[in-house]
Amino acid sequence: MKAYPFSYFPPVPEDHQGGPVIKLKKDNLNTSLFTNDAAFDWLYPKHFQLLSLKHWTPLAIARKAAEFLAEPGARVLDIGSGIGKFCLAAGHHFPETFFYGVEQRHELIYLAEEAKGCTKLSNVTFIYANITQVNFKEFDHFYFYNSFHENIDSENQIDDSIELSESLYNYYNQYLCAALNKKPSGTRLVTFHSFEQEIPPGFKLVDISCNGLMKMWIKT
Ligand SMILES: C[S@@+](CC[C@H](N)C(=O)[O-])C[C@H]1O[C@@H](n2cnc3c(N)ncnc32)[C@H](O)[C@@H]1O
Repeated sequence: MKAYPFSYFPPVPEDHQGGPVIKLKKDNLNTSLFTNDAAFDWLYPKHFQLLSLKHWTPLAIARKAAEFLAEPGARVLDIGSGIGKFCLAAGHHFPETFFYGVEQRHELIYLAEEAKGCTKLSNVTFIYANITQVNFKEFDHFYFYNSFHENIDSENQIDDSIELSESLYNYYNQYLCAALNKKPSGTRLVTFHSFEQEIPPGFKLVDISCNGLMKMWIKT
C-alpha cells in the first residue's frame, strides 16, 4: 500500500502560540478542523482536497443530515464513506451516536483512518468492504450521497482502481433498495443528490433541504 507523508496539518488557530499544531488539545483541534470545509479538507493530500467539491459532503450538510439521523446509542451507516468526511463531521457534532462508514476503495479507507487519528473521535468506525458485504441489520439509520453515480458518469470518476459500469449502477441501486426495504419502521435515511432509485416505497419523505438536494426519509 502506498504510504502517504501525512503533512497536511490543519490551519493554525489564531491564538496558537507556536509549536506543532498537532499537540493542541483534542477539543481545540477539532473546533478548528470542523469550522469550515477548507480547514477540514486540509487533513488530506492535495489530490483528495480537489475532489471535495464533487465527491465529499460539505460540513454544513453533514451536520444537518446527522442532526436528523443521530440519537444516543444509535448506529448510523454512511453507504460509501469515501475519505470519511460525513462520518467524522457527524461524529464530532453528535458524540453519543456511533457513525460507521463502508467504503470499497482501500486508499480512501486509509485516508479516513488517518483523518480519524487526528480528530481522536471514538464514535467513528470505517469498514473496508463493498456495501453488498455489509449486514444491514447491524445499523439503525443510513446516509447516502449518491455513491453509485460514478458508475454512469465517466467524466467524474474518483480513480480507476475499481470496476465501474451501468450494470453495476443498476445492481447496487437494486441491492440497496432491497436492503432498506427490510429495515423496520422508524428507520431514518438521508439522501444527498439522489435520483431516488434506491428508496423503497415504504420510506416517507419528511423533509427537504439544500434546494431539494438533501432529503430526509422515515420508514413507515
Ligand atoms: C460521492 S462519494 C461520498 C463519500 C462520503 N459519503 C461523503 O459524503 O463524504 C461516494 C463513495 O462511495 C463509494 N462507493 C461506491 N460504490 C460503493 C460500493 N458498492 N461499496 C462501497 N463503497 C462504494 C465510492 O468509492 C466513493 O468513495
